[in-house]
Amino acid sequence: MINDKKVLYSGMQATGNLTLGNYLGALKNWITLNEEYECFFGVMDLHSITIRQQPADFRKRARNLLALYIAAGLDPVKNCIYYQSHVSAHAELGWILNCFTYMGELNRMTQFKDKAAKHSDNINAGLYTYPVLMAADILLYQSDYVPVGKDQQQHLEITRDIAQRFNSIYGDVFTIPEGYYGKRGAKVMSLQDPSKKMSKSDENPNGSIYLMDDSDTVLRKCKRAVTDSDSEIRYSEDKPGVSNLLEIYSACTGKSIEESEKEFDGKGYGEFKPAVAEAVNAILEPMHKEFERILKDKAYLDGIIKENDDKARYFANKTLRKVRKKVGFTDIPH
Ligand code: TRP
Repeated sequence: MINDKKVLYSGMQATGNLTLGNYLGALKNWITLNEEYECFFGVMDLHSITIRQQPADFRKRARNLLALYIAAGLDPVKNCIYYQSHVSAHAELGWILNCFTYMGELNRMTQFKDKAAKHSDNINAGLYTYPVLMAADILLYQSDYVPVGKDQQQHLEITRDIAQRFNSIYGDVFTIPEGYYGKRGAKVMSLQDPSKKMSKSDENPNGSIYLMDDSDTVLRKCKRAVTDSDSEIRYSEDKPGVSNLLEIYSACTGKSIEESEKEFDGKGYGEFKPAVAEAVNAILEPMHKEFERILKDKAYLDGIIKENDDKARYFANKTLRKVRKKVGFTDIPH
């Protein structure tokens, strides 16, 4: 508990460009969580270097992601928005927790297997212990809730196992986190293959709408989106392409799926697809303006970063001090 509120923690990696799926499925739903929870949202840049990054590009991406959090509506005063790499406690606790995690557990992680297959030229130890660092992220802030998608559920499970193991040896040190399954975010699929999730690592750029896409690009991608042979605009399992566009339209306009279906009843794709693009652009255009404004104001952004880093450090170090004591490290004289 912080300020009588339960703690909620999440973050995104600064790799690839965020997609509309990241926004509608996660980011958008984070915006109001601070009313109920004490929220921490990290730019997970320590995790990013498990894949080789080009330094100048990486630096820019990380700053852009933080600015995008704010531009998307996360209030940097009400939420703690910070860079993981600015709070050294993450790496320190990560190391300690490595010593409380079994290789057998890590061997079961499906994401490691997937990533190792994809980056077979660079299967580094960081990629292997990625879930342990994630456990450190979550446990440092005594988090009660972690909003995670399906792909991260296994990592949350191992976090709970590590925390429980540590607590059973040393007493109540960590809060055991749970998944946050509040309001369901929209599940956005690829525009080119609606059986796959829209992903920032998709090789086909037409499958994803990136948050930084301009309005013409959005229109072009929507027009090219795969649909199916009949021309009905109806949400149905056997119409995954149209259903996906309806889901996007509904999430962007706030209208229900039924309302949206009614709106396009008797109309064709020729009318529907541009309307989807327009709904998406109505969200993205103000976001772009805000993003540019924030990035231009270097003093403002640096101020925000400093304040939030300090806040994160304060809470993280509190936990780390406790852990250091528990495992028996000697005191650091002041
Ligand atoms: N692994 C997460 C992802 O790729 C990012 C992440 C790192 C994270 N640490 C976290 C998410 C802690 C939630 C909590 O999506």
